[in-house]
Amino acid sequence: MVHTDWYKNTVFYQIWPRSFRDGNGDGMGDLYGVIEKLDYIKSLGCDGIWFSPLYPSPGADCGYDISDYMDIDPQFGGMEAFETCLREAHNRGMKVIMDLVINHTSDEHEWFQKSRRRIDPYTDYYIWRPLRDDGKLPNNWDSHFEGKAWTFDPVRREYYLHLFAVKQPDLNMDNPLVREEVKKIMRFWLDKGVDGFREDVITFISKKEGLPDDRILPVYKGIFYYNHGPHIHAYLREFRDEVLSQYDCMTLAEAPMVTPKVALKYIDEGPDKQIDMMIQNEAMCADCFFQDYFPTKFHLRKLKRAFRTWQKKLDGKGWNMLFLENHDHPRIISRYGSEAFREASGKMLATAYLFQKGTPFLYQGQEIGMTNWHPSSWEDYEDVATRYYYTHKARKLTPRQRLHKLWRCSRDSARTLMQWDDSENAGFTTGKPWFAVNENYREINVARQEPDRNSVLNYYRLAIGLRKKLSCVRWGTYQEYRKGSDWLYMYSMRDDRQKILVICSFSDRVRKFRPPKEFHLDKGKRILCNYPEPEEDRLNPYEARVYFWN
Ligand code: NOJ
Repeated sequence: MVHTDWYKNTVFYQIWPRSFRDGNGDGMGDLYGVIEKLDYIKSLGCDGIWFSPLYPSPGADCGYDISDYMDIDPQFGGMEAFETCLREAHNRGMKVIMDLVINHTSDEHEWFQKSRRRIDPYTDYYIWRPLRDDGKLPNNWDSHFEGKAWTFDPVRREYYLHLFAVKQPDLNMDNPLVREEVKKIMRFWLDKGVDGFREDVITFISKKEGLPDDRILPVYKGIFYYNHGPHIHAYLREFRDEVLSQYDCMTLAEAPMVTPKVALKYIDEGPDKQIDMMIQNEAMCADCFFQDYFPTKFHLRKLKRAFRTWQKKLDGKGWNMLFLENHDHPRIISRYGSEAFREASGKMLATAYLFQKGTPFLYQGQEIGMTNWHPSSWEDYEDVATRYYYTHKARKLTPRQRLHKLWRCSRDSARTLMQWDDSENAGFTTGKPWFAVNENYREINVARQEPDRNSVLNYYRLAIGLRKKLSCVRWGTYQEYRKGSDWLYMYSMRDDRQKILVICSFSDRVRKFRPPKEFHLDKGKRILCNYPEPEEDRLNPYEARVYFWN
């Protein structure tokens, strides 16, 4: 099978199904709604879709807790709706990738139900341990969502490992039978015609032998013992050699805490390539320490360093995945931009990443400049990690401070309903919605932005259209200027035929600026700008421009 690298020319749109569009009026987003909106997605210039999980699931982690890998949840329309959606997407020349969550299942999955009863061959499908002789948990690892990583199962009378929620037991990937199951799942969807997988926390699937205590980290204890674990490359090679290499598909691996050097062990375009692209979070940490719940001031220099590092270190060796939003992070305007300058900063942020080399991903609502949601009570939050944080970890804060922290840090800030128009529930549903709509939907919605040439939505369309025409973005090299500036981000992309200069102000004031010496702006063509009349030597608040020379 020839691999065509089609993903290098694709712009993806991520759908978080619950909140995208309800097509049957039951209040839950579904595939009927997606089918209605395929032309809209295509109109953005996006020719790929990543679906967050659609499989049957009890919903403890909004679908990332799967109870059946070979089906589509009836609440999303079931398999028939999926097949129609896939066909319709393909008819429009769009690719479709599925989320593949194989580090863990739901505790309601049949495998777990049999494993806890020691029914073979499922007995060792999960990671079970008794208490230690001293009465302590099998080790001191933390889960990412709900306290310690071990929970007692009264049926089996042992503890099981869960790196995420209690209802998400980790699979034992060292068991060859489990790996056979993964291959079966992959084949099932690829044979159905899907074009690849986004692989959820895939770098966590191989745990260090003996599951040792973590004596170093104060939080996230254990992560160095299961991230990029001992057999990770062997397992990924096995999946590639036995399944993925037989299809013209792509894989996108979620990789928390990864450096370019480590990433290249997975994605280097040599014969040992196991994965096509990685989701690395470095650019998501310019206003926090390590992850969203440890917020700091936004530092442009940190963001630029992340962009630069990945552009430079992967160049010619591996392929970058570019993104600023997904379902795990609050909205980018509320973080790196400014809600007061929502439109300008939304367009500027689009410009900052869309002209880099790699495959861009947009997350639903990003293209209209959606912002973080301000609920009045913490009980409005749905997310398991948010609720645990509020009830267990933020005890020293006053209720108001806690709510502010959630506005700033919770991933539910980006999971509110997609804002289609200014009718009730933002046109998401005719029924009672499963979740909240951001109170700003009357002002920020697709219908309002469609006819407005200057809207954030139409700016995204323009920027994506331009990007697709520029060979220097697809093939060229990245170079950055004024690296030390804490408000100005400037980079060029060039190949042997053309070059562009991208200029982005992260300041809320008018600022003087000078382009790098070798770029004569008067001789170039300004192909994109988020202000109607930019001035030669000054940038408006959150101004962005792209100049072109050939
Ligand atoms: C990463 C996913 O992106 C996130 O949404 C999920 O909660 C965890 N993995 C656990 O599956």
